[in-house]
Amino acid sequence: MTTTPALINRRLEQLVLGRPTRDGDGVKLTRVLTADLQQRLDPFLMLDQFGSDDPKDYGGGFPDHPHRGFETITYMIAGRMRHQDSAGHQGLLQNGGVQWMTAGKGVIHSEMPEQEAGVMEGFQLWLNLPGKDKLCAPWYRDIQSEDIPEIVSPQGVRVRIISGAYLSTSGAMKRATDEYPTDTLYLDIHFEQDAQFEQMLNPAYNAFLYTYRGTTEVIEAAGQSQAVALHHMGLLRNEGQQVQLRAKAGTRVLLIAGRPLNEPIAQYGPFVMNTRAELMQAVEDFNNGLFTP
Ligand code: CO
Repeated sequence: MTTTPALINRRLEQLVLGRPTRDGDGVKLTRVLTADLQQRLDPFLMLDQFGSDDPKDYGGGFPDHPHRGFETITYMIAGRMRHQDSAGHQGLLQNGGVQWMTAGKGVIHSEMPEQEAGVMEGFQLWLNLPGKDKLCAPWYRDIQSEDIPEIVSPQGVRVRIISGAYLSTSGAMKRATDEYPTDTLYLDIHFEQDAQFEQMLNPAYNAFLYTYRGTTEVIEAAGQSQAVALHHMGLLRNEGQQVQLRAKAGTRVLLIAGRPLNEPIAQYGPFVMNTRAELMQAVEDFNNGLFTP
């Protein structure tokens, strides 16, 4: 007779409270993942939450600005944002939709709220590209809310699968080619009743959760849990095969995990490369108008 060894849960390593800041043309936001955590959470470089019902907090949006060397993933919970870039792409991101943009060798784009009133709420995650892909052709994809697969678990947890997989369902994000496959997990988890949630996670992948409604409990072992309170990011230790969460009805949490690139990270504002020389090249190329086709 054999017994299956019990799965070990990933434990909480660190709690981080998002810091209020402003970016773009005065957009009020909460910066959750900051530069000091880029190595620890490799390949993730930044996570911002924006959310306000006062147009004064978001009205100016993000006028023309450049990016090079990484990807931005914008997830709109509520509101409308118009995206326009130097390659002629245009899209409207709204209520529950996602924009996945690969800046690659360089884009100049604007991200502008397209509403005069009402709530605007969402997230922007920065995902690093490996050195070999940093100068790839820019690419982007708008994913409408209805195209994001949703699964309701038997326990009553609604899981929106932006990227990666939950149970046997794959996420909405598919690349044009398999050149750099998306092995990033990005789940938006809604507890519709008091319930428990499990997800298998590769222990080598860096992972974190971010509670944006209510409070999430990370179950570490039988009878043992730690809270990730509202507007907190919980970093998970790289030990164990699964994450186990528990929360009350109404709680919403993002669960994000990715395979580390293990490359040097050099950042100068909206440019993220491997070396300082590559950053200087990025600034020079931008100044010489090479980001505009
Ligand atoms: Co941008």
